Amino acid sequence: MNRRRFINLFFGGSFAATLAAFLYPVIRYILPPKQTEAVQKKVAAAKTGELAPNSAKIFKFGSTPAVLINTQEGKLLAFTAVCTHLTCTVTYETSTGTLYCPCHNGRFDLAGNVISGPPPRPLEAFDVEVEGPDVFVSKKG
Ligand code: FES
Repeated sequence: MNRRRFINLFFGGSFAATLAAFLYPVIRYILPPKQTEAVQKKVAAAKTGELAPNSAKIFKFGSTPAVLINTQEGKLLAFTAVCTHLTCTVTYETSTGTLYCPCHNGRFDLAGNVISGPPPRPLEAFDVEVEGPDVFVSKKG
């Protein structure tokens, strides 16, 4: 190998390595991995009797927060706790018996419908089942 060929190989290899180091993260960003998050359809949200009437609990439904409510009448309801406006977490407001989003004063009734504020859609409601000592929440349908 002569000197010219060695220098061409050295700089060509360096350029290729630099280009690959730049392009690899860009390509990984543009093409996300095919691995999808496991879709959780049913979770144990609470123990039976854990919630007093007119109280609520935030729990994880898969990777997102959800809220389990025991109404003043003792009925268990569950909704996603992700606001349909800009995804803040909604909470149950005991004084009004509504779901409240503190980010922009969004408010939902206990059917998940928007009462006031900017949220464009109702909250997704979940099914609630009491099975022995546990309260299970699952996706409708
Ligand atoms: S994020 Fe809930 S009202 Fe804006």
